[in-house]
Amino acid sequence: MNDQNNKAPLNGGRPRRPLTKDDMARMNLGRRYWEVSLDVIPETMPYKGEVISYLAKLDRMIANGWGLFLWGPNATGKTALAAIVAKEAKRHGYTVFFIGASEYADSIIRRKPFDDVETIEERCKSVDMLVLDDLGKENRSESGFFIETELEELVRARSNNCKATVITSNMNRTEGQEVYKESMLDVMQATIHPVKVAGMNFRLDEKKQLDTALVG
Ligand SMILES: Nc1ncnc2c1ncn2[C@@H]1O[C@H](COP(=O)(O)OP(=O)(O)OP(=O)(O)O)[C@@H](O)[C@H]1O
Ligand SMILES: [Mg+2]
Repeated sequence: MNDQNNKAPLNGGRPRRPLTKDDMARMNLGRRYWEVSLDVIPETMPYKGEVISYLAKLDRMIANGWGLFLWGPNATGKTALAAIVAKEAKRHGYTVFFIGASEYADSIIRRKPFDDVETIEERCKSVDMLVLDDLGKENRSESGFFIETELEELVRARSNNCKATVITSNMNRTEGQEVYKESMLDVMQATIHPVKVAGMNFRLDEKKQLDTALVG
């Protein structure tokens, strides 16, 4: 695979290496997000600068357990941005795991293994950087209140251990307050910097490419 982002280092400190397919698999990063990069995002989008700034200070961010809360409407590129951050952390040798909130719920219910040593739940708590994708989309009908408690425990455990968490969500804080306890939002507020991701709709571009490929 072509690790496109492997250009000049954004982060001065640790040595940097290109990623392999095995890295992507170990991170649990979906194929669609392997080659995403900041290059396609116009400089006029304010969130781009915030993500670049985070990446430029990556070692410090990870050492302090500071993360990002990427929130905004559908298809604005939130998951792609989280993947960009996750890949950069991995290039610098940090342990990284990527999981959807609903996949996390499912992994707990079914006690899914990550490898011979850890369950997925344990992996999510132990890695240097976790991406929790689509917070708010976890399936409540199966697990009821339980999943909010588990998510709070995850966010709290990671924050207590100074581990960086990057979250994507369609929810703003007010909507978050309707679902999660204030105590969880409080922990998030202290260690996870909110970045509003809005202004682009990437799926429209993708749909155009598909239509052109099929119809010409
Ligand atoms: N920086 C990028 N580079 C390349 N492709 C991108 C980038 N950002 C978004 N895309 C593409 O656009 C599509 C939508 O992006 P993405 O899934 O990140 O949006 P989202 O905001 O997470 O959407 P949702 O709200 O549905 O979760 C994806 O197919 C993704 O690959
Ligand atoms: Mg997404």
